[in-house]
Amino acid sequence: MQSKTEEARSLLRCPTCRASLDWSPGAAACTSCSARYPIESGVVRFIDETDDFYEGAYDRQIHFSESSATGVTGKLKSWAFFNLAQSGVIGEVRRVLPDGGRIVDLGCAGGITWFGERGTAIGVELSVASLKLAAQIYAATLQAYVTELPICDESVDVVYSSYLWEHLTPETKSNLLAETARILRPGGSTVIQCDTLGDNLISRYARHDPEKYEKGFIDNDGHIGLEPGSKLLDRLRDAGFTIKRVMKLNTTVFQYPSTYGWLDLSYGDEVKWVRTLGNAAQWMLNSKAGLPIELAVTAFDRAINPISKLDAATRVVVTAVRS
Ligand SMILES: C[S@@+](CC[C@H](N)C(=O)[O-])C[C@H]1O[C@@H](n2cnc3c(N)ncnc32)[C@H](O)[C@@H]1O
Ligand SMILES: [Zn+2]
Repeated sequence: MQSKTEEARSLLRCPTCRASLDWSPGAAACTSCSARYPIESGVVRFIDETDDFYEGAYDRQIHFSESSATGVTGKLKSWAFFNLAQSGVIGEVRRVLPDGGRIVDLGCAGGITWFGERGTAIGVELSVASLKLAAQIYAATLQAYVTELPICDESVDVVYSSYLWEHLTPETKSNLLAETARILRPGGSTVIQCDTLGDNLISRYARHDPEKYEKGFIDNDGHIGLEPGSKLLDRLRDAGFTIKRVMKLNTTVFQYPSTYGWLDLSYGDEVKWVRTLGNAAQWMLNSKAGLPIELAVTAFDRAINPISKLDAATRVVVTAVRS
């Protein structure tokens, strides 16, 4: 039987000429042009440089094993993982990724264990250090641009990205959606979780001084492409996708702790209540309190989803289908 690695490798193509690749332990070689892509600790390097901003910057790895979630506590944990953790985005993936299906995780950082267990997962990233972590759980890990995917046409069930969209310029976003549509099989889905330019009490306050807003909310994380949620839906429709589900998150003052961390970076030096909230947020992020608070905020957001406004959201999760 073909292993998941063999299956993933059979889908990979030379990004220069789209021909198939010949595999040896140290490199993948194009069968048509002379390109040779080195393999380093399981990472196939389609780019021969490292990115100054992103190399080693994000290394989050999400662990959860559905098979070991047994008994009442296990079932409860499982429910929370799919419905509340990560804004419920992995539950959205579970709806559209068949057992044994193929998923591409764009901007994957350290990866998500459940994707590797559910099916054949391919991670795409700029950071080699992050990809080396993802290589422990994914069938293939590629150092490649999300705008030039070395993956063949109509070959995968789901294209997933979490907190990548807001890091991309408008031109890159269009290229990414074109590449997503190209590699998805007809009827395949894309699931996108991202930060958005929300219009709510907190973000209006955050934006009252554009220079300070930029310091905490844009420059700190490279959020060069923050846009309202409705703009993401427009872009998806323009690229030929049908919107299936939208989750609006952080539409009120109840936001994830990271928002209050960014607010602190912007205004904490001069506004005392902002610093106090920032310190509380930092404490939550560093302690066990962070997770239950994030889950509670998500539960609240989900409860008010029928009445909350898309462009009030500071975060969204969108599922869209390629026709
Ligand atoms: C904010 S991190 C999110 C990481 C992870 N998905 C998560 O939810 O924790 C964004 C990731 O996207 C990657 N990235 C940004 N631009 C990219 C591009 N053009 N091509 C490939 N990866 C990119 C970065 O290296 C970074 O690890
Ligand atoms: Zn080639």
